[in-house]
Amino acid sequence: MTAILEGRNIVKTFTTRRGGQKHEVRAVGDVTVAADRGEIVGLVGESGCGKTTFSRILIGIETASSGTVLHDGKPVATKADWKALRRDVQYVFQDPYTSLCPTMRIGEALAEPLLVHGIGDKSERAERVREALSLVGLQGFIADRLPSQLSGGQRQRVSLARALMIRPRVLICDEIVSGLDVSVQAQVLTLLTELQASLGLSLIFISHDLRVIRYLCDRVVVMYRGEIVEQGPVERVFGAPESDYTRGLLAAIPDHSRRGEPRLGLRPAGHEGARLA
Ligand SMILES: Nc1ncnc2c1ncn2[C@@H]1O[C@H](COP(=O)(O)OP(=O)(O)OP(=O)(O)O)[C@@H](O)[C@H]1O
Ligand SMILES: [Mg+2]
Repeated sequence: MTAILEGRNIVKTFTTRRGGQKHEVRAVGDVTVAADRGEIVGLVGESGCGKTTFSRILIGIETASSGTVLHDGKPVATKADWKALRRDVQYVFQDPYTSLCPTMRIGEALAEPLLVHGIGDKSERAERVREALSLVGLQGFIADRLPSQLSGGQRQRVSLARALMIRPRVLICDEIVSGLDVSVQAQVLTLLTELQASLGLSLIFISHDLRVIRYLCDRVVVMYRGEIVEQGPVERVFGAPESDYTRGLLAAIPDHSRRGEPRLGLRPAGHEGARLA
């Protein structure tokens, strides 16, 4: 199968200046990750290992020092290629406070991607906003609210709705549940699995939380200091990790050594009845 989205041999070096001195930071070193249609790929690794940088390169927010992004198997090279990619791949940010404009009502914020892509007239856009809110389990009146009038979980639902407005095939989710309370995390993850299944989305899901990755993902890519140390099906990586680094990460999960449910109340994905407890 041709991957729907792939970053191939991606390298990213940042040059920073401190006290007049130039410093080079190799944030990503030769990383290849691909997502197939309908697949949920997890990117995991400790803070600073390059997850966000890699994922931003996939959507062109950041430019790779070298390497190629492929969309439906074709290298993304021209402006038109990137435009087509952005029509198909959407990014959901960690903090909906900063990604949602504080003075823009939710309805307007949701309609904006349609305006940007020249989709629909005013009444069609209003209809699509209502549909999107309902898709993420929010009532229509939320359209008249400002971000500050919503809870964290509601804001993250709005961010998801916004990303889905143009009906993309791929969502990149960067730590989208990290800032939420555990029970709200569970609700957002359930919503995400439902949306993924009903819309057939591919997801690239970034998290430092292995329990979340295990619950949600089909495949996991473990990164350390800008490199991939291990990747494979979630059951295999969690059941029989090959690298010492992955073993260390797994050992650090609270309650991992004990049988039974992790504290988050999540069961591993791929098991019958994989659901939130
Ligand atoms: N704009 C930038 N300029 C300089 N260095 C940067 C920049 N963005 C990221 N870095 C560096 O690149 C490395 C990777 O950062 P990145 O944010 O991709 O990691 P991450 O895995 O997403 O971490 P976290 O889990 O904390 O979000 C870090 O060393 C970071 O300091
Ligand atoms: Mg990050």
